[in-house]
Amino acid sequence: MSRDLYDRAVAIAERAYAPYSNYFVGAAVRTRDGKVFEGVNVENAAYPLGVCAEKSALVKAVSEGYRPGDIAAIGITASPCGGCRQWLYEFRIDAVVFRNAAGEIVTYSAAELLPDTWDLPA
Ligand code: THU
Repeated sequence: MSRDLYDRAVAIAERAYAPYSNYFVGAAVRTRDGKVFEGVNVENAAYPLGVCAEKSALVKAVSEGYRPGDIAAIGITASPCGGCRQWLYEFRIDAVVFRNAAGEIVTYSAAELLPDTWDLPA
């Protein structure tokens, strides 16, 4: 069901703006009411100011009115970084689909990717 989100992420990754790392990342989130928002990484000459693909997809969804709990799944072309795991946890995403280092498409909940963290607002 969420493998298609991974495929959407692969397709959108070509729009990444990544002239410094040359590492193009795509992400696609699906809301519980069936909308899909895509994002890519956007880098900056001041390196730490760059934005990951997961965040850019989630920011799109939030600016369209979606909130934590409204997002069912995300597909990502990379294993999510630590900071993005915190973002995925904030949005309580049940299915995080990505290609792992062994080349397998794997699915975890955001809570599995960031265990033993603190409570979120109700
Ligand atoms: N990147 C992402 O977009 N998502 C991740 O979870 C891993 C890293 C981006 C950030 C940077 O533009 C490039 O990949 C190299 O780290």
